Amino acid sequence: MTPKAQKRHLDGAKKAKKDEFYTQLADIERELKHYKAQFKGKVVYCNCDDPAVSQFFHFFSYNFERLGLKKLITTCYRSQATDLFSQGNSEKAIYLEYEGDEDGDKVPSSDEIGVKSLKGDGDFRSAEAVELLKQADIVVTNPPFSLFREYVAQLIEHDKKFLIIGNKNAITYKEIFPLIKENKVWLGNTPIGQDMLFRIPDDTAAELVEGGNEGSKWRRVDGDVFARASSCWFTNLDVAKRHEDLILYESYSPEKYPKYDNYAAINVNKTAEIPADHDGVMGVPITFLDKYNPNQFEILGIAKAPLGTPDKIYPQQIQVSVSGAKSTVRKLNDAPALKVATPPKGKTYYEVGDEFFVAVYARILIRRKDGSR
Ligand SMILES: C[S@@+](CC[C@H](N)C(=O)[O-])C[C@H]1O[C@@H](n2cnc3c(N)ncnc32)[C@H](O)[C@@H]1O
Repeated sequence: MTPKAQKRHLDGAKKAKKDEFYTQLADIERELKHYKAQFKGKVVYCNCDDPAVSQFFHFFSYNFERLGLKKLITTCYRSQATDLFSQGNSEKAIYLEYEGDEDGDKVPSSDEIGVKSLKGDGDFRSAEAVELLKQADIVVTNPPFSLFREYVAQLIEHDKKFLIIGNKNAITYKEIFPLIKENKVWLGNTPIGQDMLFRIPDDTAAELVEGGNEGSKWRRVDGDVFARASSCWFTNLDVAKRHEDLILYESYSPEKYPKYDNYAAINVNKTAEIPADHDGVMGVPITFLDKYNPNQFEILGIAKAPLGTPDKIYPQQIQVSVSGAKSTVRKLNDAPALKVATPPKGKTYYEVGDEFFVAVYARILIRRKDGSR
């Protein structure tokens, strides 16, 4: 292998490893309990789920009757384990079809679960998997983090209902944010700030522990190491809280809500502090999406920290800075190492002409809808 090919191979392996995060049953139950009526009579498809390890398969097979499902289909990518379902470690994959309890014991048994072979590796993009997708009413899973954009694009293309886990950062992706803005995708019920811990293979656990950072990257629970990933649920199923108005009690004042230097909007640091009496554009934290009711507010755009050159700034983003932070930056003037002429990726401060600015956290730009007050 050439060094370049070797690097590509290693990068690919690293990415694949990051994809092996398994969702815990408690997280699935916490979210799924809000959608019972929407699952009645539906075909559910879990398309990134090895039934040997997937708690999604477990949840839907054990709750099949309670939810009144019509059918559960699960595809297993590249049979990773050797057991009842996965037929050895091979590039070939299997899929499962379950149509409910037959013997009355309410326990899905191997006799009741139809295990079928796929011709290929079970990639969610493969023609076979797409045929299964077409049969589905609702897709529910935690897809590979590294393929999230493609994964969502496929669901939208096939006009499917879905409830999936993704990294919180995906909210700001140029492929995902427009869907949120246009009310085609929104967040699930689990609050965005709720930590989700994922089961991981032993070798990944050993690597994480070796790398340190307990608390931010991993946690130990009852002796087991879990990976921590800042995740949230993305869905287009109906979510009750989207119909509730956010109760606002703060009043606008120019001191409390400074204007951005380069965009006509005020900055709001906490969702709860959105002023009740301001009709203009407001930059609010991303956690606002937890409380977003499209009848109360409209989303106009997203302002990421002002990074990159203009050609790299996505059309729906606006560069934003807060004048109030200039004095902080002036202090940094004394530390030449931190003084930068152009805003390099990842740096918090930048200089334009003789002026210094501070990058604010990503902000969603919103405006109250006419008549919502
Ligand atoms: C984040 S893990 C989650 C696994 C499982 N859905 C769960 O929540 O426990 C994503 C899974 O997708 C699988 N995967 C990776 N690439 C895939 C692809 N192209 N098609 C289908 N599944 C894939 C990985 O093997 C991995 O098990």
